[in-house]
Amino acid sequence: MSDADIVPVKPEIAAHALANRARYEEMYLRASSEPEAFWGEECKRLTWMKQPTKIKNTTFFGDVSIKWFEDGTLNAAANCLDRHLAERGDQVAIIWEGDDPNDSKKVTYRELHEQVCRLANVLTAQGVKKGDVVTVYLPMVVEAAVALLACARIGAVHSVVFGGFSPDSLASRVQDCGSVALITADEGRRGGRKVALKVNADEALKTCPSVKSVVVVKITGGDVAMQPGRDVWLHEEAAKVPATHEPVEMNAEDPLFILYTSGSTGKPKGVLHTTGGYMVWASFTHQYVFDYHPGEVYWCTADVGWVTGHTYIVYGPLANGATTLMFEGVPNYPSTSRFWEVIDKHKVNIFYTAPTAIRALMRDGEEPVKKTSRKSLRILGSVGEPINPEAWHWYDRVVGEHRCPIVDTWWQTETGGALITPLPGATALKPGSATLPLPGVKPMLVDGEGHELRGATEGNLCIADSWPGQMRTVYGDHARFVQTYFSTFKGLYFTGDGARRDEDGYYWITGRVDDVINVSGHRMGTAEVESALVAHQAVAEAAVVGFPHDIKGQGIYAYVTLVADVEPTDALRKELITWVRKEIGPIAAPDVIQWAPGLPKTRSGKIMRRILRKIAANETESLGDTSTLADPGVVTDLVENRAG
Ligand code: PRX
Repeated sequence: MSDADIVPVKPEIAAHALANRARYEEMYLRASSEPEAFWGEECKRLTWMKQPTKIKNTTFFGDVSIKWFEDGTLNAAANCLDRHLAERGDQVAIIWEGDDPNDSKKVTYRELHEQVCRLANVLTAQGVKKGDVVTVYLPMVVEAAVALLACARIGAVHSVVFGGFSPDSLASRVQDCGSVALITADEGRRGGRKVALKVNADEALKTCPSVKSVVVVKITGGDVAMQPGRDVWLHEEAAKVPATHEPVEMNAEDPLFILYTSGSTGKPKGVLHTTGGYMVWASFTHQYVFDYHPGEVYWCTADVGWVTGHTYIVYGPLANGATTLMFEGVPNYPSTSRFWEVIDKHKVNIFYTAPTAIRALMRDGEEPVKKTSRKSLRILGSVGEPINPEAWHWYDRVVGEHRCPIVDTWWQTETGGALITPLPGATALKPGSATLPLPGVKPMLVDGEGHELRGATEGNLCIADSWPGQMRTVYGDHARFVQTYFSTFKGLYFTGDGARRDEDGYYWITGRVDDVINVSGHRMGTAEVESALVAHQAVAEAAVVGFPHDIKGQGIYAYVTLVADVEPTDALRKELITWVRKEIGPIAAPDVIQWAPGLPKTRSGKIMRRILRKIAANETESLGDTSTLADPGVVTDLVENRAG
């Protein structure tokens, strides 16, 4: 690593930053040597109904038990709203920017509090009680934040399902957690098009008898069916209930939300986060990672349907009394200047997006960026996948004009918030590296047998001890939690990622080492796409792998074996792609389908994905050892008929 690739801390940022290098090091040291004292202090950033006295009680061994602040009580929504009212009731909490550039609004903390109280009362009137699960299937409207906070306020557990998921995907996520209610909308809007949310929800609910009530947000006014006795309009019900509501006292370890995410095997897992630790982590990391100062306008472009939206659009910023921007649209509508225009329109100071968006916008050149001012920008952020140095430099030079530090935040749905990331005033940057762990985070690289690798090295990325924002279990399946994260390497949380550590102790995430792929920053289990494909009557067998994709980071490459007598045609290829879109959602649609008369298998019948990945990546010169295959001839055919 040459010095030319190091971008030093900017003195003008360090001068006013919450943490400079010395402060970061001091915090890191104290959080590792005296976690009880460190987090005992840090948890005071929240307003507790009962202040915790037991701070950390965690083990990664045996049955794995993770408890933080376990005798404390609080309410997450009250921390995001009520406690701010006296000081900043009239400050803007949410700037909402619509899909249509002429459509935007500002919601103050007082107004947001009122909306949340009303929905809390509506949900209560619908029979939703503390501990019940409520599924949220909404686009990027203010009501999405209101829905999360209203659930938290009454002690219901929210489970948000991304609005781009199909009825089947929604149904399986409702069934798994037995939600009693669904909050959805008539239709969503994205990039000038409408998304038929209520129609999808109705389809899904045919197989979800647990859902007794559906609260519908009117967005487009599109004509949708309402089922009497089950469906109600939010605006009608909200008008009937009081604008005040007493937040429910929750234990720190009571569940706050479930969020389904893909793993390497089986159906998506319900990642469960609890109240106290998650909120401390969301607030702590939002403040330090973005060096958030009161009065700043902060914009995270994620969707509320993903963990990034939960932690860095809703809970983190609102806990910190920030002004958070919610964007309904997409980066290229009506034009590829949209992000930068929104930044100028609302004087955004901190901007947090995904590498895939940057790479897509890079294709259009610099002009769409340069015609905007972006003078308000102070900090830039990246999340969701490794950012390649070329995109990093473009982001730095063209968007930030070398003024803004880039925080490349590595984390996962499971981790609740960022774990490895620079701090703007503390960390010299290396393009492509997520840099250093936050206080309280102990990364460890291990070899295939779980032996710790020291110094500059590369290996499997594990975390050696618990941090407050860590997931607590897989909803309804603690054994799967232990099996997935703590059985590969004893006593360690295994992230599923590989990483390199350089001579300065900087981490470079190399990507997933399991059968999870990352498509445009969206996490997808190859097994899910495979089971969607084999559900089609023409498909006998399917194997799905990721391959390098210029814009998406990874694309989806499917090898498909058809049942006997079915002809491989272009029409069938299109049909299968449409099929997967319908089964899971557009984000799962394969980019490439290759017809495979046979798949490379070991003699014991295990598909050798390593070989399929190489062929998909067009690295057919380095297929490695194929001698253990039952039929090596299969590989020759696949190489000769490589698609894409
Ligand atoms: O592979 C890592 C990648 O995204 C995975 C987590 O995906 P998900 O749970 O959907 O959460 C995404 C938002 C935090 C990780 O296992 N990943 C995420 N951020 C980065 C990253 N890879 C490299 N650099 C990052 N900054």
